[in-house]
Amino acid sequence: MNGAARVIRGRLLLFEDEPRLAGAKAVRLIENGAVLVDDGLIAALGEAPDVARETPIGAKTDDYSGKLILPGFIDTHIHYPQTRVIASYGAQLLEWLQKYTFVEEQKLRDPAHAGVVARFFLDELFRHGTTTAMVYCTVHPESVDAFFAESERRDARMIAGKVMMDRNAPEALRDTPELGYDETKALIQRWRGKGRLDYAISPRFAPTSSDAQLEASGALAREHPEAYVQTHLSENLAEIAFVKELFPWTKTYAQVYARYGLLGPRTVLGHCIHLEESEVGLLAESGSVAAFCPTSNLFLGSGLFDMRRLQAHAPPVRVSLATDVGGGTSYSMLQTANEAYKVLQMNGQSWPAAQAFYQMTLGNARALGLDDRIGSLRVGGEADLIVLDSSATPAMAHRMEAVKGDLAEELFILMMLGDDRAIAETYVAGRPAKSAAMKAQRGADGDP
Ligand code: GUN
Ligand code: ZN
Repeated sequence: MNGAARVIRGRLLLFEDEPRLAGAKAVRLIENGAVLVDDGLIAALGEAPDVARETPIGAKTDDYSGKLILPGFIDTHIHYPQTRVIASYGAQLLEWLQKYTFVEEQKLRDPAHAGVVARFFLDELFRHGTTTAMVYCTVHPESVDAFFAESERRDARMIAGKVMMDRNAPEALRDTPELGYDETKALIQRWRGKGRLDYAISPRFAPTSSDAQLEASGALAREHPEAYVQTHLSENLAEIAFVKELFPWTKTYAQVYARYGLLGPRTVLGHCIHLEESEVGLLAESGSVAAFCPTSNLFLGSGLFDMRRLQAHAPPVRVSLATDVGGGTSYSMLQTANEAYKVLQMNGQSWPAAQAFYQMTLGNARALGLDDRIGSLRVGGEADLIVLDSSATPAMAHRMEAVKGDLAEELFILMMLGDDRAIAETYVAGRPAKSAAMKAQRGADGDP
């Protein structure tokens, strides 16, 4: 024990498996529970009296009796330079990129501005209960340095990468195949494995990269098999038509990424909405992850993600859930689950709350291959936790009156009515991070 031990008391929600596959035994609730965190890790957890016996004298206790304690949420696809793009009116993907996104992203060339945005972004994630994210930066290496430096300072587990684009974007946002390769390589060397940081090789999407740049991206993935790859796939019909124009040799969009060795178990592909059957096969066989971004898909009018189709394929396609801010309209994974539920409803698909909460935590950790570290409450696991208040607003408290101890109903209320107000606290590496973020955002001391 290092003297920074802390006991967090509340109702522990434990996922031992995927509810969709394992049924009720996948979920366990310890009503009078406690988690002992020490040195950034979970040192003990279970019934509060049992944990008390293992707790060193002098440990602080944060008592959240009656509230739920879960692993922190994981967001598998989000753009940190788009904090001032979120909620930009009226356009679908390709116009939205040109009109709003590429304008704002140019500003992150300035390291001071990138620092301001990175701090705001991480404060927002923590305020909303997200403790790990897979993040796009801009084309500027400075934007990656700013993001990783701030993440390291907060001891957060984050994955990020420099966007590569060498065509169909403003001059100020373009690199070249060689420059993109060199800068990415240097960033991997500088940041990968530092603190809790990891790197995602990030060709933005096929329309903004030449064959040569995708080939260079594939070379990076081969040379750094331990790093991630992130890009976008099949979000919008005009985008798909454009890909077929730009790559006349291909039959499908996914085939472009397959050709350059960009698919695989460490690849996360945003959207995956309008897939042809052969593309579903490519994703499934390669073990790539399809990131479902419901608020974005609705906001940009992109289409409806077909979870059942992907999960019913043999072998199944691995899926994750993500906000995709600033195409997405909320930083909240609870609100993202709310919209996911509605998108699936539109296709006659059900999504029980237990499955949704599994997806936001252990499911997304598995999608990123990080379930040995995060995504569950487990002794030896990293102490990234959240405390949820199911009665955080008058509407929630009123609705909760009708729920007599039914966990499934409580979780469903949280995901339909909850947002940042339902996050009573977020712990990152065992330290309170939501209250610190709010203090920083109020400008109380500027030092979260
Ligand atoms: N496709 C390529 N870039 C982007 C982006 O920034 N947001 C979304 N939603 N789709 C993209
Ligand atoms: Zn995106």
